[in-house]
Amino acid sequence: TQDKIKNLIKVREEAYLGGGQKKIESQHSKGKLTARERIEELLDEGSFEEFDMFVTHRCTNFGMEKKKILGDGVVTGYGTIDNRKVFVFSQDFTVFGGSLSETFAQKICKIMDKAMEVGAPVIGINDSGGARIQEGVTSLAGYAEIFERNILASGVIPQISAIFGPCAGGAVYSPALTDFIMMTEDNSYMFVTGPKVVKTVTGEDITTEDLGGAKVHASKSGVSHFMVESENEGLMLIRKLLEYLPQNNLEDPIVTECTDPIDRMEDALNTMVPENPNIPYDMIDIIEALTDYGEFLEVHRNYAKNIITGFAKFHGQPVAIIANQPNYLAGVLDIDASRKAARFVRFADAFNIPIITLVDVPGFLPGSGQESGGIIIHGAKLMFAYGEATVPKITISIRKSYGGAHDVMSCKQLRGDLNYAWPSAEIAVMGAKGAIEVLEGRKLKEIESDEEREKFMAEKQEEYEKEFSNPYKAAALGYIDDVIEPRNTRFRICRGLDLLATKKVVNPPKKHSNIPL
Ligand code: COA
Repeated sequence: TQDKIKNLIKVREEAYLGGGQKKIESQHSKGKLTARERIEELLDEGSFEEFDMFVTHRCTNFGMEKKKILGDGVVTGYGTIDNRKVFVFSQDFTVFGGSLSETFAQKICKIMDKAMEVGAPVIGINDSGGARIQEGVTSLAGYAEIFERNILASGVIPQISAIFGPCAGGAVYSPALTDFIMMTEDNSYMFVTGPKVVKTVTGEDITTEDLGGAKVHASKSGVSHFMVESENEGLMLIRKLLEYLPQNNLEDPIVTECTDPIDRMEDALNTMVPENPNIPYDMIDIIEALTDYGEFLEVHRNYAKNIITGFAKFHGQPVAIIANQPNYLAGVLDIDASRKAARFVRFADAFNIPIITLVDVPGFLPGSGQESGGIIIHGAKLMFAYGEATVPKITISIRKSYGGAHDVMSCKQLRGDLNYAWPSAEIAVMGAKGAIEVLEGRKLKEIESDEEREKFMAEKQEEYEKEFSNPYKAAALGYIDDVIEPRNTRFRICRGLDLLATKKVVNPPKKHSNIPL
């Protein structure tokens, strides 16, 4: 037996080397870690248990039967992050370029099935040349086996994808089906077809980076939720992200010990909103003044910056925050902002994370570009997501809350549980200037002198503002539960969350809803 044990140690060592020392050096020279080093960094020390280290492919095309490498290009298994179970697969670029074979896919499917059985998140680290060309169609079937599992796991266990290298062709669709995608700034790219195919088909000359680099996906396409400078930063961010999430949809996120007082008054909040409604301010300052220790993990920071989405805690309770950002496009709702926030609301609802909404929205972005792009459908997504969500929902109207956008942003009638407003809130059908231009259009045309017209406008505007640009009309109707002092907001949110912790609302039975897509 001693020899047999020695042999086991030897083959294990061989497996640990993946594609060999030379390939490992090449991986390092690109500023990338190996598949196993990534897992080591990600998980609690010593917690990793590997599956299927001895798996090899079954391909006999192109002389492949002579080229077998233990593990076949992906390292899979489970371990812990902050002592909570997680499953991981990490594609090994040193083995056949991390390309996906039939057995490679089976290894990933095995851990996904286990993750579903025990109810734990799956983290996938992608670094692959795509379908293994020598295997042909079996690798395509392998992808589809993974896709189906991604789909069935959606809303059951959190799924997180890190893209730390190439991810092209069919390979992009597994990450796309998961909850969060992260990309490294310099070393990763994702596209359905690469620059060469693009050139052949459309004649367009484009670099890999401009086509599918992290910057494009983090800011323009919105495919990626996080852009990180290094793999280490990314792996630490995954650990942080999981702090806000439950293990599965039947559990609640963990409430942690909190020493930040719930009744911490923030006097600065009373003066943070400028008197003049046309002057912007940074909503992030408000968020950070409210949350535990001023911490906020922003999701999609560089995409659709007119709306903010992210995770924070109140008295140790993880929450999802959605907030309009007056500092960017005046916080208007447009197609991208609606899609971004809708997906986030649905994620939070699927995983029992209460939603806090901070409102300062002048309306939907007008224009033919938005209309022809389908803002009606995209705006409806956000409304649908809010209206369908059954988690606790607390809304704070900070300043503008106009028109259809008021309804969308977690209003009372979309089952907002607690709706508070600051005294600076303006809850109305539209802003004063626009309203007067519509209501007094004829009169304004009749007045000949500019001076008189301006005077008339100013008078009417003042009248309108007095009547409508405040929270009290909505409060008088019970649409707002209370008008609160800004500095007291943290306390009101903490108490509200405590009240709503036992909330139970069930949607009507159905196969699934038909959210406008
Ligand atoms: N199938 C089989 N082997 C693959 C592969 C694939 N899809 N992608 C990469 N490899 C192999 C390479 O043949 C090479 O093997 P070798 O070291 O034995 O020569 C190794 O992986 C490393 O690839 P290499 O091309 O040297 O790395 P690179 O960093 O220069 O380029 C890619 C990486 C991904 C851009 C390039 O490998 C590529 O274009 N791959 C094909 C992508 C594709 O079209 N996939 C199918 C679509 S789903």
